[in-house]
Amino acid sequence: MRTLSILGATGSIGRSTLEVVRANPGQFRIIAVVGGHDATALAQAAVAARARFAALADPAGLGALRAALGSSGIACGAGQQAVLDAAAMPTDLIVAGISGIAGLKPTVAALAPGRRIALANKETLVCAGDFFMAEARRLGTTILPMDSEHNAVAQALCGRSLADVARITLTASGGPFRTWDAERIRKARREEALTHPNYAMGAKITVDSAGLVNKGLELIEAHHIFGIEPDRLDAVIHPQQIVHGLVSFTDGSMIAGMARPNMCVPIADCLAAERRLVSGVPAPDLAALGGLGFEAPDLVRFPALGLAMQAMRAGGHATAVLNAADEVAVEAFLAGAICFGDIHRIIEETLEVTARDIMRSPSSVEEALAIDHTARIAARGVMASGRVGTA
Ligand SMILES: NC(=O)c1ccc[n+]([C@@H]2O[C@H](COP(=O)([O-])OP(=O)(O)OC[C@H]3O[C@@H](n4cnc5c(N)ncnc54)[C@H](OP(=O)(O)O)[C@@H]3O)[C@@H](O)[C@H]2O)c1
Repeated sequence: MRTLSILGATGSIGRSTLEVVRANPGQFRIIAVVGGHDATALAQAAVAARARFAALADPAGLGALRAALGSSGIACGAGQQAVLDAAAMPTDLIVAGISGIAGLKPTVAALAPGRRIALANKETLVCAGDFFMAEARRLGTTILPMDSEHNAVAQALCGRSLADVARITLTASGGPFRTWDAERIRKARREEALTHPNYAMGAKITVDSAGLVNKGLELIEAHHIFGIEPDRLDAVIHPQQIVHGLVSFTDGSMIAGMARPNMCVPIADCLAAERRLVSGVPAPDLAALGGLGFEAPDLVRFPALGLAMQAMRAGGHATAVLNAADEVAVEAFLAGAICFGDIHRIIEETLEVTARDIMRSPSSVEEALAIDHTARIAARGVMASGRVGTA
């Protein structure tokens, strides 16, 4: 039996991870589960998984967490230190499934010799990718890509040398606005942006997917996780999301990683040891599908993807700025303060404003968080300027 901790146990990734654990009885012992603010949901997850320790990020939730855990005998804590302690508890495997920059510190705290981190929190790589991957190498931690596209690429690469790789391609569904014109996208409502065609995910990543900024974040993630330069990375729209990632080799052959669009598949791959696990998801039925479509992404209607690609090429602090501006903008959009079309404008202006500051690629968590802080102030300044915020 292998030991496993789950950061973000109450979220979409965390719930799917626990589903895979349940589908493979007797294979995992859950050590720690971590949540953000929902004490009741965390206690339920901890009790159902028979975890040893439950940590809630919100310090005010400690009483509610204790009460909800009742006489279960599960130890608990609340606040940032409790989350970091949970992440550092020894386990064979840990799932990094916290959303946003909030996942950076706990994911770094999870680095340990011989450990395997199944990484869903892409922000760790987008904001501090050079530092994080160097630390993982230094400590001897294996990073397993849990994002479906990167997981498919890792399986297609199958340990082959990057020297044989001509191109890595990530697919995107195109989101709910794939066929919409630019003006309709600009005015898209919250409920419309929260309707992903294939996946039920957390609100932030769903809105990011609608504007294709998520694909940009994933290209940056691929750059770090596979150690491949931006010019050998691209994205293609594939509405069915059966193909998740493709590797083109220098001899003209191409290997596609395929599965139904269900996160239990890449999660099962990350949690597997020598043998494959039960994911509960059958392989795609190609005859029933009839056909698979592919098209180039439209950077005019979806400018945030182009901005993310530019930031990836610029390197240094630019991708951390991009992430912070996007988090601020998506939060404002979800709160009804800006329209959908403002998201990319806030990102673009924040990148421009901060380009004057010479900031190198962060070489520590503290540096990454300092860049994030500066970029958030800049993004809020852009929002306050009056140039955005009108539907
Ligand atoms: N969902 C997917 O299918 C998918 C696919 C690929 C990659 N990802 C990536 O996986 C990550 C998680 O996405 P998600 O869709 O699972 O998000 P989600 O459903 O919003 O869940 C986020 C989780 O993080 C917890 N959390 C929030 N703030 C926290 C904090 N400060 N400290 C500790 N925990 C905190 C939440 O707890 P509370 O709910 O209690 O606040 C929840 O458990 C993101 O980076 C996303 O890009 C997701």
